[in-house]
Amino acid sequence: MNDALGDPQSVLVLGGTSEIALATVRALPRNRLKRVVLAGRPSPARDAAIAALTSAGIQGVSAIDFEAKNTTEHAVLINQVFDAGDIDIVLLAFGVLGSQDEGEANPDLAVEVATTNYTGAVSVGLRVAARLKGQGHGSLVVFSSVAGDRARRSNFIYGSTKAGLDAFAQGLGDALHGSGANVLVVRPGMVRTKMTTGMPEAPMTTDPEVVANIVVAGLRKGKNTVYAPGPLRFVMTALKTLPRPVFRRLPQ
Ligand SMILES: NC(=O)c1ccc[n+]([C@@H]2O[C@H](COP(=O)([O-])OP(=O)(O)OC[C@H]3O[C@@H](n4cnc5c(N)ncnc54)[C@H](OP(=O)(O)O)[C@@H]3O)[C@@H](O)[C@H]2O)c1
Repeated sequence: MNDALGDPQSVLVLGGTSEIALATVRALPRNRLKRVVLAGRPSPARDAAIAALTSAGIQGVSAIDFEAKNTTEHAVLINQVFDAGDIDIVLLAFGVLGSQDEGEANPDLAVEVATTNYTGAVSVGLRVAARLKGQGHGSLVVFSSVAGDRARRSNFIYGSTKAGLDAFAQGLGDALHGSGANVLVVRPGMVRTKMTTGMPEAPMTTDPEVVANIVVAGLRKGKNTVYAPGPLRFVMTALKTLPRPVFRRLPQ
């Protein structure tokens, strides 16, 4: 439960090696944190994430195995984490970009992206929401994307998974309204992480630390939705209203 100063003491990261999520954990008041659970696939990166947070002075960092596509395992996993103690913040940060070209050529690959980004998120999202509602407090932070605001020709497979995730997360926030728990939907533009390594930078590309600070500020203000960086809200509002023939002529 948040401490007397309103600071979170426990965090669950779904996608425990996500660079944006790890930056978000580091952006929280670290001397207040007592328990951080990194849920992810076993890997040297997950071990390194535990070591990095611990050496940054964060107490109680541990890992638990989590595969987004194995939805039949999610009930046990979420219950195990919450049965061990309240969780103040859940970061739903797993996701894959996938390759649009490969997905169009081999739809099974597109289904993998959809299963991870959307189906996996629905599976854990509903289970987390039920536990947060039971606690009567806590925030679920869902990393959506501007890619879901208006799907582009060049990455509509990924974009459509984020559009679905975004709608799901908004609805979940409405469902939790009045329960003491809430959902924060985060819509980053391009962020410099391993997900985007080697790709040409889009306008307004930013760093995980910038996204993290926007997330923490959004949580403090009880916001429902934040863009990162903030001005992307206006860019995307304009893009969403463009007639399709005009939109198609833009660089995709
Ligand atoms: N980077 C961007 O430009 C950007 C922009 C907008 C939105 N986002 C979204 O923000 C979130 C975090 O992105 P990031 O940049 O921090 O990405 P990242 O560093 O590449 O991290 C992605 C995370 O997803 C996990 N993951 C992937 N497939 C999984 C699966 N099947 N089961 C369990 N975990 C799985 C990865 O685990 P492993 O270590 O096991 O692979 C990793 O922890 C994602 O949802 C992403 O779509 C990113």
